[in-house]
Amino acid sequence: MQVERIGNNVDEIAASTNVVGIFQDEPLSESAAVIDGANDGLITRLIAAEDFTGKPFELVPLWSAAGGAAEQVWLAGLGPRKSYDAETAYRVAASVARQLSTKPRGRVMFGLGEDLSAEMATAVICGALVGCEGQDLYRAKRKHTAFNTLLVDTDDAVIRRAQCLGESVNLARRLVDRSPRDLYPQSFVEAAEAAAKEHGLELEVWDESRLASERMGAMLGVAEGSARPPRLVKLSHNGGGKDAPTIALVGKGVTFDSGGLSLKPTDSMIAMKCDMAGAATVLAAMTAIARLGVKANVVGLMGMVENMVAGNCLKLGDVLTARNGKTIEVRNTDAEGRLVLADVLSLAVDLEVDRIVDLATLTGACMVALGTDTAGVMTNNAAWCDEVMAAAGRCGEAAWQLPMFPAFGEQIKSEVADIKNTGNGRWGGAITAAKFLEEFVAEVPWVHIDIAGPSFLDKSTAWSDGGASGAFVRTLVEVVESHVA
Ligand code: BES
Ligand code: MN
Ligand code: ZN
Repeated sequence: MQVERIGNNVDEIAASTNVVGIFQDEPLSESAAVIDGANDGLITRLIAAEDFTGKPFELVPLWSAAGGAAEQVWLAGLGPRKSYDAETAYRVAASVARQLSTKPRGRVMFGLGEDLSAEMATAVICGALVGCEGQDLYRAKRKHTAFNTLLVDTDDAVIRRAQCLGESVNLARRLVDRSPRDLYPQSFVEAAEAAAKEHGLELEVWDESRLASERMGAMLGVAEGSARPPRLVKLSHNGGGKDAPTIALVGKGVTFDSGGLSLKPTDSMIAMKCDMAGAATVLAAMTAIARLGVKANVVGLMGMVENMVAGNCLKLGDVLTARNGKTIEVRNTDAEGRLVLADVLSLAVDLEVDRIVDLATLTGACMVALGTDTAGVMTNNAAWCDEVMAAAGRCGEAAWQLPMFPAFGEQIKSEVADIKNTGNGRWGGAITAAKFLEEFVAEVPWVHIDIAGPSFLDKSTAWSDGGASGAFVRTLVEVVESHVA
């Protein structure tokens, strides 16, 4: 999809589908009033009759209306102005795009709010790009076709950046939505190779023998029961010069999580192809960072494994030695993500990075705590965490901090090893998992984002087909950009 700035060419506008945003419970905007006036007060009458209310996700076609100049006008509800933030703008734009993309369209103009700030315009453009792409990977007949061209009233620089971000979100979504029989560690490597080549990222891949010589014993333990060998993917973007600090983005890449011998029941296993969403988010964010030429040094580290059951798989009671030398008693093979991340975080420390953010679909407990829309954020460094939280806020991605009180760390003490891979029972499970990860980041400022909730939708919503959401791709890019700004 092309994205262009709305021009003043009346003929061009006339050839477009014109989407006009309407706030709830307030007078029509200037542009809506023009259309209303040209059509004998049609919008005013629709609102008076309560056939259009301006609630978010409402979309009403005005077929014969003269749209300023355009002949096809759609009214889109934006909700109350005071709650029209980046998250709402993203979702409204996505829902409009989702509805309009059910057939091919040429030029579509989005007037979702007036005088949009760069942040809000970015949310609208990203939402539109995401809404135009559905859950179509494995359908014989696609349900969505992206518009030929999206027209938005904002600067060219905002458009270019938002387009990179939106396309990256869709890249993450496509990777996560792929069936686990064709998305496994080596095929993820192939996707990383393609992305690296296309966007000019440096790529390094470690296979199972390199992982062994690099002492990645915890990650290898998880991989043992799988016929698909593990991979470590490292993507680098050196945009900051030799003496600039390096930020590590670390992703959990469990391409399928059966639970291992601590086997998941069907209902819990059904969506577990999504367990590499952290890695997909990192890969996608790295492509945007490269395309945007961000002046930062960034390394993306993705730990790719499949958690399966076999005669030689990880057992309960096994003791693994992680890269940093710590021994881990395995008490539940379904707590595999933290085993993978243990070694990958240790690697980030060994690379002497200055900051770490990790993303992981790590715990069901995080969803119990915060629901399906909000990511859990945990840290060893308040200032770095504030930066990440602020970036998420600007992107309109819901995140909430959970405490890292030392008492939670008591729960991962082991009778037989340095630590164990579960807490004592379920309570506070998102935090005991983060406490485990903290054992592997040494003193490096680190933020852990548990995206188990927001990364994958079990059912369709107004703004998205069910499946991968691409959550936190935009936030990651924003974190890196704002850290070096
Ligand atoms: N991948 C799961 C967490 C998950 C659950 C992600 C639901 C997305 C949706 C993770 O590996 C897991 O199984 N965690 C266990 C940890 C427990 C065994 C300590 C969990 O949350 O139950
Ligand atoms: Mn698991
Ligand atoms: Zn998992």
